[in-house]
Amino acid sequence: MNSNGLSFDDINLDPAKIPSHVAIIMDGNGRWAKKRLMNRIKGHEKGADTVRAIVRCCRKLGIKILTLYAFSTENWLRPKAEVTALMGLLKRFLDSEEKELLEKNIRLNTIGQTQRLPQNVRTVLTRVKASTQDNDGMLLNLALSYGGRSEIVEMVRKIGTRVADGELTPKDITEETIVDHLYTRDMADPDLLIRTSGEMRLSNFLLWQIAYSEFLVTDTLWPDFSETEFISIITQFQNRERRFGRVLET
Ligand code: FPP
Repeated sequence: MNSNGLSFDDINLDPAKIPSHVAIIMDGNGRWAKKRLMNRIKGHEKGADTVRAIVRCCRKLGIKILTLYAFSTENWLRPKAEVTALMGLLKRFLDSEEKELLEKNIRLNTIGQTQRLPQNVRTVLTRVKASTQDNDGMLLNLALSYGGRSEIVEMVRKIGTRVADGELTPKDITEETIVDHLYTRDMADPDLLIRTSGEMRLSNFLLWQIAYSEFLVTDTLWPDFSETEFISIITQFQNRERRFGRVLET
């Protein structure tokens, strides 16, 4: 039984091999709605319910960081009505979840060009980040207006400025310097990357950080993704041999 009242025997998981950081590309909301002859926005609404369930499940399992790809830099190119609906949904989600984040000791963080988000979303994000800033049970890391390439461009600009200012020389630049200038600077890299809805693509997500992440893809559309399937994916993760490019002794 862990401190969240969860028995690992019941769910067939090894508590010593719970991934610290799980990242998810939540895909398939549109197809879920289309299959039901519904507006795509209904798919996103159902998808927000899945977000709630998976956040709770991660907290129960003792996962330390959950990074969710909620809105990409490319998603700004979707029809205006869909972008507006997604922003409204995000705001409602944060308003309604703040209490539970506080109760469950979860800190909210964002990665991405959040300055591009509408003012009312930025206001609620600032509030919830501040109210949860001392929570240390889990980090809920929302990728919002996020793109891996633009993150790399920003990182290069920041390091370039430091070189131009004479704070660093090119020879001082190491992998650590790069990590320190990414949005994820204080986070361990994802151990596990999950993508729903069957597409085998990275879609510009965490390009630097997933160098050694285990990648698991399920055909399930995000609104149908469940706690049971999430746990089964963690079981598959636990059965993977992580070699980080090395040969393991036999
Ligand atoms: C991909 O499905 C999903 C998105 C672009 C947005 C993800 C948003 C949510 C899960 C809901 C809101 C999020 C939070 C954090 C409350 P898609 O529209 O690309 O699906 P499709 O590929 O089937 O068209």
